[in-house]
Amino acid sequence: MASADPSAGRRPLRVLEVAGARPNFVKIAPIHRAILERQGIEPIFLHTGQHYDPALSDTFLQELGLPAPDEHLGVGSGSHAEQTAAVMLAIEPILLDRRPDVVVVVGDVNSTLGAALAAVKLGVPIAHVEAGLRSFERGMPEEVNRKLVDAVADLLFVPSEDAEENLLREGVERERIRFVGNVMIDSLEAVLPRARQSHVLADLGLRHRGFGLATIHRASNVDDPASLVRVVDALRAAASVIPLVFPVHPRTRARLDGHASTLERAGVRLVEPCGYVDFVSLMSTAACVLTDSGGIQEETTVLGVPCLTLREATERPVTLTAGTNRLVGLDPDSVRRATSSAAAEEPSSRRPPLWDGHSARRIVDGLASGFAPRQP
Ligand code: UD1
Repeated sequence: MASADPSAGRRPLRVLEVAGARPNFVKIAPIHRAILERQGIEPIFLHTGQHYDPALSDTFLQELGLPAPDEHLGVGSGSHAEQTAAVMLAIEPILLDRRPDVVVVVGDVNSTLGAALAAVKLGVPIAHVEAGLRSFERGMPEEVNRKLVDAVADLLFVPSEDAEENLLREGVERERIRFVGNVMIDSLEAVLPRARQSHVLADLGLRHRGFGLATIHRASNVDDPASLVRVVDALRAAASVIPLVFPVHPRTRARLDGHASTLERAGVRLVEPCGYVDFVSLMSTAACVLTDSGGIQEETTVLGVPCLTLREATERPVTLTAGTNRLVGLDPDSVRRATSSAAAEEPSSRRPPLWDGHSARRIVDGLASGFAPRQP
């Protein structure tokens, strides 16, 4: 890594920001804003098209204040190999044409991996935001993506101390790691005033803290029919304690079939995926949240809302030790008991170190000092 020369007359540092799936937009938006606020550095915003439904993509871009992408790869859905390879093939000519000084990839989705692999092969430096998270589940697609991207990234921005420890244990040099906090919380802070004005509660006829919010879409939970039955049973158990609202991700919707009516009868209301403003409104007013998402474990910690994670492991242990998250798994009795106690708790916000809404500024500081404009 070179040190940036702040001398006048130099062309700006060109940063290619890569986003493809819903949670990526939430992470890229504050970084994009922080880059625009700074001299000597310019963003190129690239959307891979992994998520293309308006509810998962355009709505998010608009609500987060992101512009129309400068580049759109239109890769769409497919198997892991198809999706990752499609990103690699489509991004390569853009890397050659735009000649970014650094590629910023976020999170752990297939777009993150495809972009990182294409960049490293062309010798383009890579910065990974949300580096170092490990669930230690080798079969989880996101865990594979995280480890591979961290292996090829030049600069690793970690959200928590456990992530830094994971990287050090894997032999990553300390100089490549920057502890910057959680950039998702920057977006959460920015949207909260608008979320407080949202009409989604009234539209759905919900009372403040009178409902639980459920989101389930992990491949490991919904792709295998036997696992999906366990998910359905777990949600029915929770709904016996408190009515649930469940914005259904397209992956889950495609597999629910007859389970949809079983859930509705048990008191689980299935709704379309929400935009970010409405989703934050639901999250912040729910009595508890049941999820298999990663980001939601973090957002509920800062909102102070009890979170029950319906998985056996988490790559975000700080939400267990310093936050409101509990690993519950899918056993119906455990889910019922955990829902009862969570729904009775008073909300109380927790903030792990540096989850303060200023992570994007630290990331841009790291980019400016870690990379320099390359020679033409
Ligand atoms: C992806 C990420 C996951 C992340 C999630 C957030 C990977 C490996 N997984 O999972 O980590 O938590 O995004 O939402 O990258 N589909 C649509 N419309 C869309 C996008 C997808 O209908 O706009 C359907 C398609 O049938 C597709 C399925 O959803 O096959 C899954 O989409 P995909 O992008 O492959 O993965 P996600 O499950 O969304």
